[in-house]
Amino acid sequence: MYLRRLPLMFAWLVMASLVLILFILSQTQYSAIGMAVTAIKNEVTNSLKNSYFETLLNIHRKLPLLPPADQIHISFCNSSMDFKARPYQPHKPLLYIVTPTYTRREQVVEMVRMSHTLLHVDNVIWVMAEDADKCSPLVESYLQRFQMPYVHLVSPMPTMYKKEKYKPRGVASRRAGLDWILAHHDASKSAIVYFADDDNTYDLKLFEEIRQTQKVSVFPVGFVGSKGSPGITSPIVKHGKVVGFSDDWFASRVFPVDMAGFAINVDFVKSRKNASMPFWAGYEEDVFIQSLNVDLEDLEPLANDCTEILVWHTKTVSDKTPKVKITKHLDTNLKTLVDDAVFKGMDTYDTKSKNELKYCFHGEKCDKYSNL
Ligand code: UGA
Ligand code: MN
Repeated sequence: MYLRRLPLMFAWLVMASLVLILFILSQTQYSAIGMAVTAIKNEVTNSLKNSYFETLLNIHRKLPLLPPADQIHISFCNSSMDFKARPYQPHKPLLYIVTPTYTRREQVVEMVRMSHTLLHVDNVIWVMAEDADKCSPLVESYLQRFQMPYVHLVSPMPTMYKKEKYKPRGVASRRAGLDWILAHHDASKSAIVYFADDDNTYDLKLFEEIRQTQKVSVFPVGFVGSKGSPGITSPIVKHGKVVGFSDDWFASRVFPVDMAGFAINVDFVKSRKNASMPFWAGYEEDVFIQSLNVDLEDLEPLANDCTEILVWHTKTVSDKTPKVKITKHLDTNLKTLVDDAVFKGMDTYDTKSKNELKYCFHGEKCDKYSNL
């Protein structure tokens, strides 16, 4: 009986030793099997991760990179080339700052914040292109107040892209801005284009850096990436040359850079007839830089060889525009104040609204501690 079971026991023993040996081998990184196991593990994790993000970020776009011509509408609103707030400096290249914007509660707030950065910089021409059907008088009135050279355009997102889950935000505006610059720039002057979203945060040092751009300059951007990532995107620089990129989301991009992370020389763009920014969310920068027909060696690292963050991809908390009503105390400042808030797009006036302003007078009944 015992002897008859012997081959079976032997087989089990062999199997168990094999499993044990495989386990020990797979624990050592440097053994062939260990390496193969790790490679397979990485491959599976990466492909799962990639397919997840591909779905999430619409890598497999369904719509063309550009719309048919009849879906592109660009209107010129107004412009001024008066360097009033800061005198023009003839020895310094011009900076065309191309900013997409759209009507929302924070629009004026962003404009005030961004203009007060730009007002510290020489030779800026602010190209503001609205994602809207009509020129906004509010945007125009602010542009006039800042006393710096500006171009005010409208160029709405083509309707075909509005249905997309991941919309190519700001692309119609940047294309309109670049078209305007290429058509109107005085060729005797040297100039740089920088695509600066209205909600980001810009260090003044950045503008002096990008002014040096000969072809395409690149530099780090802070606060970019998904939650839990280090929040940095940057070219990798070795011996003063760009040799790669660090980013949270590569997604098969040749130039994985953020919109705020590069600037281009106007003469250089002019020499690249195929330059074109695509309507493809997530790939605007990459495909645009590819369309400039550049190699890694052509990229000029700025910000002290990309060792400093001079721009942050920030976001303002967004709220629905609330309704407001005021029917009492019309003999005080409050009615005119509400009018100003409505004019600046912060509220809409609604006589049927329950949002009557709240009042308290002479320190009484303002809150439960007011009569202590
Ligand atoms: C990121 C990129 O930095 C943008 O360059 C890119 O256009 C965008 O993603 C995208 O591919 O969707 P993000 O901060 O996520 O930017 O986007 P927003 O700040 O909401 O929009 C970028 C710019 O487009 C802003 O200047 C904003 O005012 C403008 N925008 C946004 C529009 O013109 N229309 C919109 O409907 C939304
Ligand atoms: Mn933004």
